[in-house]
Amino acid sequence: MSSSPVASSKSQPPISRGVVSERHPFKHKLNAWRKRSPLNPYWIELRWLRKAGEQLAPHAHGLLLDVGVGERPYGGLFAQHVRRYIGLEYPPMADNLSPGIWQRLERIRGLIDVWGDGHRLPFRAQSVDTVLSIEVLEHVPDPDEFVAEFARVLKPGGTLMITVPFMAPLHQLPFDFYRYTPGGLQALLTRNGFRVESIESRGNTASAAGVALTHWIMRCMGAKSFHHDGSVVLSRWRAPFILPLLALVQMFFAVVERWTKDQALCLGYVVRAKLATNSSSVRSTTSQS
Ligand SMILES: C[S@@+](CC[C@H](N)C(=O)[O-])C[C@H]1O[C@@H](n2cnc3c(N)ncnc32)[C@H](O)[C@@H]1O
Repeated sequence: MSSSPVASSKSQPPISRGVVSERHPFKHKLNAWRKRSPLNPYWIELRWLRKAGEQLAPHAHGLLLDVGVGERPYGGLFAQHVRRYIGLEYPPMADNLSPGIWQRLERIRGLIDVWGDGHRLPFRAQSVDTVLSIEVLEHVPDPDEFVAEFARVLKPGGTLMITVPFMAPLHQLPFDFYRYTPGGLQALLTRNGFRVESIESRGNTASAAGVALTHWIMRCMGAKSFHHDGSVVLSRWRAPFILPLLALVQMFFAVVERWTKDQALCLGYVVRAKLATNSSSVRSTTSQS
């Protein structure tokens, strides 16, 4: 067996890690600030995802594979805890998520290390120490096959970290298949050879109410039209009123959620699991090694 964990390079376009050339640094900085502020209609969700990343990162180790890495938003959080961080993306989904992404390939070259489908990971069996997959499992038609692949590439005792949404609007259509509950996650992971260590809620009923109200305002009052994937195109004329209103709503619920204990509704779940050391009998038979 070769020392490289990647089984075949055939599925990967020749990627050289590029450097992001930024023509308008001021505009870029302003955009980055706006994205992190409550003016971003996804602020509540992103804050909780960031917290999830901070909570999971210290448990990562060795060679980490991020399945569905997207724009690598948590790379910095995890990189300091692992020997190597490999981000994998699935071209059809990346294209759907961001049409025209191929034209901007220059910009994303530095973010994605390997192209491949999580249902058939181009990695050797037992070659990875940590699998991370943030908000991806709702997008896969066959979650069992997906999780079995995690089990195949992980070393015995390896660590799996996932987050999934519970209360989230339909997104990335037509590739939005599932929402998960703690019981469903426990069953899915256990039958694929994992021992679940923790399942924690992201946010609570107040966070979920804040997200629902934010999306109602944005979609029903602020939208000019909708993209093919279900996302909103805000009306240019209404946006200057709608965005500050959304910021106020989100800040209000960010305060209220601190006093809320009820988690029957929440934004999603953060899961940590270990691959059982005797899990070979339940592993996927799709091994490519
Ligand atoms: C909601 S985005 C999350 C991206 C990133 N993890 C983040 O947190 O920003 C879901 C990601 O899953 C990826 N994805 C969907 N199906 C996949 C598959 N079969 N194999 C690998 N990645 C997949 C999509 O391309 C997309 O980037």
